Amino acid sequence: MKLAGKTAIITGGAQGIGRAVAIRFAREGADVVIDDRIAAGGAQDTLAEIQKLGRKGCVIAADIASLADNRRMIQEAAEKMGALDILVNNAGVERRGSFWEVTEKDFDFVMNINLKGLFFATQAFTQYLISAKRPGKIINMSSVHEELPFPHFSTYCASKGGVKMLTRNLSIELAPFGITVNNIAPGAIETPINTKLLNNPDLLKALLDNIPLARLGKPEDVAGLAAFLASADADYVTGATYSVDGGLLWNYSEQ
Ligand code: BGC
Repeated sequence: MKLAGKTAIITGGAQGIGRAVAIRFAREGADVVIDDRIAAGGAQDTLAEIQKLGRKGCVIAADIASLADNRRMIQEAAEKMGALDILVNNAGVERRGSFWEVTEKDFDFVMNINLKGLFFATQAFTQYLISAKRPGKIINMSSVHEELPFPHFSTYCASKGGVKMLTRNLSIELAPFGITVNNIAPGAIETPINTKLLNNPDLLKALLDNIPLARLGKPEDVAGLAAFLASADADYVTGATYSVDGGLLWNYSEQ
């Protein structure tokens, strides 16, 4: 068990990749705090899975788009669990739209969760770690689109590009405190963020044609890497991005 004795907090833990990471962490011996905007439903289901595995946990309803909620989330999590060691910045959203049609509301919706929310959740978590004199690990759920253009998703790409640079910057700034920060860049994973795509055979085929391993990823494919990055095996890894994409990012072929 890689994470025995550790406590993790996972944003957006009610579904998709966040849920798989929460369950994998519990299997590895961690206690887990699940953040989601809504305390009922998916977040409670994830908590039940964690408890079934014999681990402790709790749900904290917090909207990470809000600075005040981020601070409250970390404070409540530390109080309820006694200590925190790992933050997984998993919550994320995307909105499709041509660049020239993006509204301020759409822009703010995506940026406030994917970039501003991640920024201030990380700030609150590191303020906690530094004042508690504890080392820690931060794992950001970025995307292959921190590198790869994704037409009609300009806000999403801008947010993920921001996460890439923030990770690099913080790896230097946080190293003196024994805090590491790394990105996971999933490709096309079967999660609720992809519902429209999964239900559109033409779009799905075009995407699969671009994936050398010829299948979509499963949330569990991502969770294994998160467990490694959260563990002592990754003590010397910081500022890095790892792709989990079946080869999508670097795929190029000519007939
Ligand atoms: C996006 C998906 C997309 C995938 C591969 C992910 O980051 O959330 O909508 O299908 O990248 O392009």
